Amino acid sequence: MGYTIAVAGKGGTGKTSLTGLLIDNLVKRGESPILVVDADANANINEVLGVEVETTIGEIREEVNRREVSGNGFPGGMTKAQYLKYRLNTAITEGDGYDLLVMGRAEGQGCYCYVNGVLREQTDSLSDSYKYLIIDNEAGMEHLSRRTTKHIDTLFLVSDCSRRSIQAVGRIKDLVKELNLKVSNMYLIVNKAPQGKLNEGIKEEIRIQGLNLIGVVPMDEMIYEYDSNGIPLVELPEDSKAKLAIKEILSKIEF
Ligand SMILES: Nc1ncnc2c1ncn2[C@@H]1O[C@H](COP(=O)(O)OP(=O)(O)O)[C@@H](O)[C@H]1O
Ligand SMILES: [Mg+2]
Repeated sequence: MGYTIAVAGKGGTGKTSLTGLLIDNLVKRGESPILVVDADANANINEVLGVEVETTIGEIREEVNRREVSGNGFPGGMTKAQYLKYRLNTAITEGDGYDLLVMGRAEGQGCYCYVNGVLREQTDSLSDSYKYLIIDNEAGMEHLSRRTTKHIDTLFLVSDCSRRSIQAVGRIKDLVKELNLKVSNMYLIVNKAPQGKLNEGIKEEIRIQGLNLIGVVPMDEMIYEYDSNGIPLVELPEDSKAKLAIKEILSKIEF
């Protein structure tokens, strides 16, 4: 079974950006194959990675339900489960050293229990054939418990340099316990730190929340520049502040 990494934290703190850089680092260290799951309804990690996505799991779910309601059955006489498996495979975007699966938007009206159950099982078994499973999450953790039964080896809690954002990840840490999620390690990454430094107020809040700080990623003007020009962040120079910080963080983890 592969090593599972997930990220959580308030919106806009840099989860997707840092996840992209993390994937880039693992790929460059030869840690393929990697399965990336974009579990944010406003999926956008493909932009950070610089790949186009054709289909999302959400679209497949809708399509399968439409076919069922219309009563026309599935192509080639496939059963619903067979068709889901076939479509799931078409939803895999191949990147350089990784595959990407985009969950897409949440379900509309109707009963999706069966389809969701099958999709979850199939995604779980698909991820077993990879060395790493990397999940880019939306802000909350609840849907993660619904979407995967997987054990999470490392959960990165991402915060920016504000007390409220640190408090938000403090709540996520508690929620992980309440929801009984299987998480082995939880580390805090503080992102967008001015000059890469934390002031006393932030350090104090980290202590209050009982968070385990693994690293600080500086505010990196190049990220802003690349982002605003629509250039994938993975193309940042290897000696950019953000890439160096991610490299250091990953060197502290035993996979
Ligand atoms: N270290 C950083 N320095 C400067 N800008 C950053 C940094 N990390 C992220 N950003 C910017 O912050 C914004 C939110 O980042 P994003 O990764 O989309 O956050 P999230 O996934 O948590 O919502 C983006 O515009 C991104 O370019
Ligand atoms: Mg995001």
